[in-house]
Amino acid sequence: MPSSTIVHAAVFAVGALVGGGVATAVSARSRRDMLPPVPAQGAPAPPVIHVKPGQGTQMQTAPGQVMKVDTSVLKYGNPGPIADILVRRAYVAGYDRRLRHPAWTAEHLTLASLGKSKLEPRDASEAGDRSNSQFSEDQSIPAMFRAKLQDYFRSGYDRGHMVPAADAKISQEAMNETFLLTNIAPQVGAGFNRHYWAYLEDWCRRLTSSFSDVYVFTIPLYLPKLEADGKWRVSHEVIGSPPNISVPTHFAKVVLAAKPSSPSTPDVAEISAGAFVLPNAVIPDEAKLESFLVPIDAVERAAGLTLFSDAIKAQSKHICKTTKCEVIVRRFDDAVKGNNRKAISGPK
Ligand SMILES: *[C@@H]1O[C@H](CO)[C@@H](O)[C@H](O)[C@H]1NC(C)=O
Ligand SMILES: *[C@@H]1O[C@H](CO)[C@@H](O)[C@H](O)[C@H]1NC(C)=O
Repeated sequence: MPSSTIVHAAVFAVGALVGGGVATAVSARSRRDMLPPVPAQGAPAPPVIHVKPGQGTQMQTAPGQVMKVDTSVLKYGNPGPIADILVRRAYVAGYDRRLRHPAWTAEHLTLASLGKSKLEPRDASEAGDRSNSQFSEDQSIPAMFRAKLQDYFRSGYDRGHMVPAADAKISQEAMNETFLLTNIAPQVGAGFNRHYWAYLEDWCRRLTSSFSDVYVFTIPLYLPKLEADGKWRVSHEVIGSPPNISVPTHFAKVVLAAKPSSPSTPDVAEISAGAFVLPNAVIPDEAKLESFLVPIDAVERAAGLTLFSDAIKAQSKHICKTTKCEVIVRRFDDAVKGNNRKAISGPK
């Protein structure tokens, strides 16, 4: 029974591994050729790269790019951080070198991008098929900070897509890019990645039938929990041996959906937005999607990210008022997902 190989990670011991991870991190040698740009007064603005949709993979800031900072304080070392902004065909991601999973991913879904447009029908032979894709390490990240296939091996977690493969059917190249480990974070498999989380991804795709443009941000989170002694602590597993990849406690999906405000004003968009935060845990199929709603700025606060300007927030309607916030339970595709489960049991 392949499902028995996927066990909730709580049964794995954590403590002993964590110490090893710290030791490894401390001994990591500083690499001056990797020095990142540091914003400082009078320093030039970071380079802006204009990327047209549909173009290939590229880094926004070349790794190792150094910005000259005129201060003796940083004479021997400039710790960064480097912003790894990964621009792919079907998404953009920011990578977190410390946690070794995305800090965030962003996508723009439309009927056309999902191959559902009657106006722009897609040639089926060009479309991406996930059975032709394989998980792969992202060579654009320096090896020391890279998530490895080995780290996920027998971790008990799924390699969870932040941008789902099903959102990148536009081409095989686009779908392949969703299998890069810079788009992946450890997720509980049965009951989460393969079920409730997948229902939420499907709900995001279905928004394209009522909105012309759907923007989806997926954000791994580490949320503090109130413990018995009355103190808040963040506690999470780190997988790999030695430990490499952090296991988020929660995942957020933040959606912004736009449509023309009226037929007479096609250029004026009516915007709806909403944010959901789900625990990285088994969620019953019966759970109401609305029970995971949070204010958008709660996600921003927890992630340390700014998603939308105050103006956008002020003018947007709540998405659960403009459309139904309800997932469709799809247990029938368990058979299909069972095939993927074999692939999860070991790196290729
Ligand atoms: C997609 O990935 C698979 C598996 O790694 C590879 O064999 C195939 O050539 C890739 N396809 C494209 C179009 O990049
Ligand atoms: C990460 O994993 C690799 C093997 O996949 C290992 O060599 C390395 O020591 C691990 N730890 C860190 C912190 O890089």
